[in-house]
Amino acid sequence: MKNGIALSCLLIAFAGLSLLVAGCASSSTLAAQQAGYPKDKVDAPGLFTENCATCHGRDGRARTFHGRLLGAQNFTDARWQTNTSDDEIIRAIKTGPKLMPAFQKKLSTAEIEALAAYVRTFKPAQ
Ligand code: HEC
Repeated sequence: MKNGIALSCLLIAFAGLSLLVAGCASSSTLAAQQAGYPKDKVDAPGLFTENCATCHGRDGRARTFHGRLLGAQNFTDARWQTNTSDDEIIRAIKTGPKLMPAFQKKLSTAEIEALAAYVRTFKPAQ
């Protein structure tokens, strides 16, 4: 009987541990999960929400607390879209100009290229 109780305790403890491990696995970042994905399989909107939206805003307008504080670029600015090349956008994501953090260690090349293309989707219709 005593053994039965001990076994139950062990089972409960094991179940708890499994939940903990599962919880940790699911809290790993999208950036890490998709690091090996090719560019066309990367979830760019998801990565943008995870890594960029605190400053640039989900709508790309940078009207967030951090965006205003740090002076983040508004991606819906038509002049900025016209005057900025794809290479400049990719370089900015990699190296982080001014007060923006660099992402070259956090994101794969495919993720950075997919995000650069996503930044273009904020371009206003003419
Ligand atoms: C902590 C705030 C912050 C985060 C997070 C952030 N940025 Fe920025 N970003 C900035 C700031 C500030 C600037 C303005 C720098 C400047 O004036 O060139 C900027 C500028 C840019 C530019 C414009 C560069 C240029 O040459 O005009 C691009 C493109 C950009 N960010 C993309 C991104 C992407 C994509 C992400 C997510 C992977 C991201 N940023 C995350 C703050 C941030």
